[in-house]
Amino acid sequence: MAILIKNIQKLVQVEKEPVPFRAGKEMQTLHTVDHAFLLTEGDYIVDFGSMDLLTEKVLKQVKEPIEEIDATGKMVFPSFCDSHTHIVYAGSREVEYIDKIKGLSYEEIAKRGGGINNSAKRLAEATEDELFQAAMNRLEEMASLGTGAVEIKSGYGLNTENELKMLRVIQRLKEHSPIIIKSNFLGAHAVPLEYKGKQTEYVDLIINEMIPMVAAEDLADYIDVFCDKGFFTPDETERILMQGIKYGMRPKIHANELDYSGGIQVGVKYNALSVDHLEYTGDDEIEALLNTETMPTFLPGAAFFLGMIYGPVRKMMDAGLPIALASDFNPGSSPSGNMQLILSMGCVNYKMLPEEAINATTLNSAYAMGVSDVAGSIAKGKYANFFITKPIPTVEFMPYSYGSDKVEQPFLKGKRVNKI
Ligand code: NIG
Ligand code: FE
Repeated sequence: MAILIKNIQKLVQVEKEPVPFRAGKEMQTLHTVDHAFLLTEGDYIVDFGSMDLLTEKVLKQVKEPIEEIDATGKMVFPSFCDSHTHIVYAGSREVEYIDKIKGLSYEEIAKRGGGINNSAKRLAEATEDELFQAAMNRLEEMASLGTGAVEIKSGYGLNTENELKMLRVIQRLKEHSPIIIKSNFLGAHAVPLEYKGKQTEYVDLIINEMIPMVAAEDLADYIDVFCDKGFFTPDETERILMQGIKYGMRPKIHANELDYSGGIQVGVKYNALSVDHLEYTGDDEIEALLNTETMPTFLPGAAFFLGMIYGPVRKMMDAGLPIALASDFNPGSSPSGNMQLILSMGCVNYKMLPEEAINATTLNSAYAMGVSDVAGSIAKGKYANFFITKPIPTVEFMPYSYGSDKVEQPFLKGKRVNKI
């Protein structure tokens, strides 16, 4: 089936000559076409442009029958790319939420066996089918809210059997969801309770047993470590990343959420695709990130939900860096995968201009999960992953009107997605 969307008030984030990401001042660049059309066939975008240029010749590019959609008064955006999530989990953690309201910190909760270890216990009790269904439901809600690509981490298994279980669930999600999915092996998310005081032994287990087994089943695109105060040290992170790289997994890590942990520097040293969280980013970290292939990624939902300090996004963009934003959807620090909200938080909490925040949640976050060649913008040959908005007056209205759902009809790989 081919689809022709006509009379689009504004077609947003178009690229005639696609770039992998936008950095620094360029993040303020957002190409749009007024009174536009968009033509797709099968999974892909075939053409787009101003309605004036919609000729027979344009339509002849597609062979299949064309369904026409009129989008008068509405806009079309590329789907959001959510480059950092933990959506394979069992149960929820409202008790810790209350503990946080009462004043306990994330680290204090973790030390008491709450946090990631709490989710690990529940995940151990869940079947693969239950985990698959719960994650699928989350993906469907995310797609309904406009997301078209999602990176998903393991990290609630914390032993070989359950880490593999999580990764197999992610593999199944890749096969069954229209969303573009990348998997990230995060065995080093926390030290499991049975290894308390024996952290090195757990790191050895990750290196000697887990990574080879994950690779043998080809279950992970990336390798992650929670490199931070109270979790894994830069030295441990280095050992794990080296082994991951040896087995074909590119690093994409958690860093500098809780302190100036050295995580950013380790990530850059091993050419991480992204370093994520970054609340504690100083001049040395900015210097380390400049002129590298590593995408600095902020997770405004987690910073908001945990009441953390906000990282220096403005300063980093002014220094010439690119920025990506993702949801961090997980049961502990960010139980939401709503990228429309992340877009608004990027503007309000990090002082990003709407254009910058749109680049950060589409093209740059596509880069941060290794899919900017096929997603993150409206460009010929990319996946037809986009959404038609409800009638909205301006592009800026998207982040401005926070908390309300502006997505009327999402499409993934050229097909309508259920609105939930
Ligand atoms: O990205 N920071 C580490 N990991 C997750 C939290 C996971 C959890 O609390 O369950 C995060 O925020
Ligand atoms: Fe995370």
